[in-house]
Amino acid sequence: MATTLISGGTVVTATGRSAADVLVDGEKIAAVLAPGSPLLGHDLAAGVDTVLDATGKYVIPGGIDAHTHMQMPFGGTEASDTFETGTRAAAWGGTTTIVDFAIQRYGERVMDGLAAWHEKAAGQCAIDYGFHQIIGDVNDDSLKAMEALPDEGVSSYKLFMAYPGVFYSDDAQIYKAMRVGAETGLMTMMHAENGPAIDAMVAELLAQGKTDPYYHGVARAWQMEEEATHRAIMLANLTGAPLYVVHVSAKQAVEQLAAARDNGQNVFGETCPQYLYLSLEDQLGAEGFEGAKWVCSTPLRSKHEHHQDHMWQSLRTNDIQMVATDHCPFCMKGQKDLGVGDFSKIPNGIGSVEHRMDLMYQGVVDGKISLERWVEITSTTPARMFGMYGTKGVIAPGADADVVIYDPNGHTSIGLGKTHHMNMDYSAWEGYEIQGHVDTVMSRGTVVVSGNQYVGSKGHGRYVHRATSQYLV
Ligand code: URP
Ligand code: ZN
Ligand code: ZN
Repeated sequence: MATTLISGGTVVTATGRSAADVLVDGEKIAAVLAPGSPLLGHDLAAGVDTVLDATGKYVIPGGIDAHTHMQMPFGGTEASDTFETGTRAAAWGGTTTIVDFAIQRYGERVMDGLAAWHEKAAGQCAIDYGFHQIIGDVNDDSLKAMEALPDEGVSSYKLFMAYPGVFYSDDAQIYKAMRVGAETGLMTMMHAENGPAIDAMVAELLAQGKTDPYYHGVARAWQMEEEATHRAIMLANLTGAPLYVVHVSAKQAVEQLAAARDNGQNVFGETCPQYLYLSLEDQLGAEGFEGAKWVCSTPLRSKHEHHQDHMWQSLRTNDIQMVATDHCPFCMKGQKDLGVGDFSKIPNGIGSVEHRMDLMYQGVVDGKISLERWVEITSTTPARMFGMYGTKGVIAPGADADVVIYDPNGHTSIGLGKTHHMNMDYSAWEGYEIQGHVDTVMSRGTVVVSGNQYVGSKGHGRYVHRATSQYLV
């Protein structure tokens, strides 16, 4: 098996940083060697197949994006990244594992939905991938099927309090699913927005002629998110289900999570780069139909209400535990433009899978989070939260050699002139400048990105059979 020595870098994990060389043997990390280690004295570099010079650079565990929707049928169309294009773009950005969402649609069987997603992804991916299971039709049959999910390597499932008529579950369905989730050792993931109330407000706004993308954000007010987050927390409390709220954007929702955690409840929050950097006014409120580029749910929040600052603070203080992208890209032409004249018909979603590691690294540069916290929220906690830790999320002997060499002296200009690799005809991040750069990306011992070249291959990525969350008690 091929051996590689990543030498001269600073290894950064969630718990610290140190000068060390990383020895990779085949698909695994074989050793992490501090300077002065006797093995290095035996001129290890001369004995390995390849030496990667990481001098002046950070060596970190590959990013884990635990919330993506590759080729998801949604909003009358399908997310524009396939598993092939989306995982390749992820690799470009230093992400070496995604956890996507298999979907059980209304009237379908859960295991048929899971099988369909396996079929879409198998043989297509550049990096490793796992699945959460969306339960879009909670009934006796799907509750039974949930009990079999752990055997399939699926240790988490998602419900929606939004999107009536699509994925929506009412409170009785949520209660029943959470009971099964708690008994089965599944992590309950929740899209927490009050869907029926939102739909009523959407109808009112449209009737008043308020059809621009901006009104997507008005209709999905923070009260809709706070209320649903509170209700989800209470139902989780009643049933004993561990709860992970996805794409948290409102500071009031964070406060609900923080209060529940202070109260001893096993609840967690995920946010996304868009809720840290972008706003209702500057993006959703852009000229004409431009704001459609940033239509996603939960929506971008008002900069005048300081949700973004509060979210950075919550990441630092661990009121929010991790950052995923909710990568759900649509092109402007032929997809987002379905909603010209009616914001409610704009497919919901933003594409960021390629930029998460960079955008969060900029938070380190800006003094908002530490270097170790960057690794923790983008790799280590996702691995622990979703049953992959040890194999993923850490630089340690025995772990998969999913390694990123990150250059703090490099520079990344996002978006301009279609420099990204996602299958989108625009960038939600155009003009963002990052004071850092993904230098080299290794997936299970194979270099997939090097020197601004993609050198990986379709089908290299393997299905990750996930274990139970480490956050279950
Ligand atoms: O706008 C979003 N978030 N689209 C993807 C589906 C979801 O709700 O996660
Ligand atoms: Zn959602
Ligand atoms: Zn999502």
